[in-house]
Parts: sequence; C-alpha cells; structure tokens
Amino acid sequence: MATYERHHCWSLLLRLFHWMFALSIIFLIVTGFYINTPWTNTMIEGSASFPMATMRYIHYIAAYVLSSAVLIRLFLYIFGNAQERVWDILPITGRNLNNLKMTLLQYSYISNKHDERLGHNILAGLAYLLTFIAALLMIVSGFYMLYPESAFWAKWGVMLFGSQQFARYLHHITMWWFMIFAVVHIYLCIWNDCTEPEGLISSIFTGAKFKHKA
Ligand code: HEM
Ligand code: HEM
Repeated sequence: MATYERHHCWSLLLRLFHWMFALSIIFLIVTGFYINTPWTNTMIEGSASFPMATMRYIHYIAAYVLSSAVLIRLFLYIFGNAQERVWDILPITGRNLNNLKMTLLQYSYISNKHDERLGHNILAGLAYLLTFIAALLMIVSGFYMLYPESAFWAKWGVMLFGSQQFARYLHHITMWWFMIFAVVHIYLCIWNDCTEPEGLISSIFTGAKFKHKA
C-alpha cells in the first residue's frame, strides 16, 4: 500500500486570491451578460427599480475585488513561496519541460505516467498565467470604459485601444476565455483528483497536498 506524506503547498494569501478571483469572475460574467443584453424590462429603469444600474454597480464592486486579487497574485508571482513564484511554472528548465511533455501525454491518454510535483503542473501553470494576463486586459479595458474622461485613461486608453468601442469589443471577447477556462479548469481538477490521490481539490482550501513518501 502506498504511503503518503502531507506537504504545505499554498499560502493563505494564494488561497484568498483564488476565491476572490473565482467568485468575482462569476459575478462579472453574469452582470456583464446583463449589461450586454438586459433580460429584464428596462422600461422600468428609474421608475419602479434600477435593474441596469444595480447590475453595473455589482459589476464595479466585483471589478475592484478582481483587481485586488490580481495585485495579490502579482505579489505572489514575485515574493510567494517556491510553488507560487512565476519561475516555478515557466517551461525554462529541463525538469519543467519534461513535466510539460509528461502532462500532455497523460492528459491525452497516451501514457499514464504522472510526474509527481508539489506545485502546479506546467500546463496548468501556463493556463493560469494566461488567465492572469487576460484579467489584466479586462481591468485595463474596464477602467478605460469606466473613467474615459479622466486625464490618465483619456491618454492611455486611446493609446492602447484607439476607441472605447474597441476596448468594449476586446472586453467582451475576452470574457469567453474565462468561461471556457472555468469549465476546463473544474473538469481537470476533478479528473486529477480522481486519477492521482494528491488531494488536489482540498489543497485550494487547506493549502496542503500529499506526495508519496520517499
Ligand atoms: C473577468 C472579468 C470581467 C468580465 C468577464 C467582464 C464582462 C463584461 C461584459 C460582458 C460587459 C458587456 C460588454 C458588452 O456590451 O458587450 C462588460 C462591460 C463593462 N465592464 Fe466588465 N468584465 C470584467 C471585468 C471588468 C473590470 C475589472 C472592470 C473595471 C472597472 C469592468 C468594467 C466594465 C465597464 C465599465 C463596462 C461597460 C458598462 C456599460 O457599457 O454600461 N469590467 N463587462
Ligand atoms: C468549484 C470551483 C473551483 C475549484 C474546486 C477550483 C479548484 C482549484 C484548484 C484545486 C487549484 C490548484 C490546481 C493546481 O494545482 O493546478 C486551482 C487553481 C486556480 N484556479 Fe480554481 N477552482 C474553482 C473555480 C475557479 C474559477 C471559477 C476560476 C476562474 C475563472 C479559477 C481560477 C483558478 C486559477 C487562476 C488558479 C491558479 C492559482 C494560481 O495562480 O496559483 N478557479 N483551482
């Protein structure tokens, strides 16, 4: 029988980041869809109730939560523990390249060999990094749409996006990345937890993972 030992893996700050990020994105997607295509009768806006104003208000509260989460992750990419730093997930060492190859083979059911490692596997780590960059794009385009007349955004927004309409287009298209990511992410977390008894899902609550005893 295999024996496992418990290892501390994720700091409290990383777990806080995860749940701030995940929950704010759920609110942002739902309210974002409403801003795009309001599904209530907006003729009541301003008389019986304020559905659009309320949805936009929730969007902006969630936007500040997301922005704080992104700042936390930026800090952890530089100053976090060994598993949290950005170097740990970049395919720039032989060990990381090998992990990427083994993960791709395992996920495509070509091999069932699993490269045991405390942090994220490299494929997951790269997807998370891309999601972090997508979140930066949402923040920049979102704040440009929110404060287009402020001196800062009037200069940088126009320089980066040209028009507000183009920023809105990118903001909308990028939302689809988060929706696709969330579905694949949750599926792969469950798949991994069923295939390898490392306690992957509980690690994002407790901060601990399990590895074979050496
Ligand atoms: C993952 C994060 C986010 C998602 C999925 C999201 C989604 C959306 C969507 C779908 C829309 C409607 C755009 C359209 O009409 O097609 C929207 C509008 C908007 N979002 Fe976001 N958003 C996110 C983050 C943010 C952030 C960080 C801000 C920053 C303040 C922000 C500010 C805005 C603003 C100002 C609008 C325009 C509201 C209007 O036209 O009345 N969003 N968002
Ligand atoms: C029931 C819902 C969810 C569960 C159980 C869950 C679970 C997990 C687990 C176990 C990890 C660590 C995986 C690993 O080591 O590779 C993780 C990481 C991550 N999750 Fe989720 N997740 C959920 C929802 C979401 C959602 C909705 C998002 C955003 C759209 C999200 C974004 C992320 C990100 C960005 C990371 C990487 C953390 C880092 O930067 O180190 N998660 N999640």
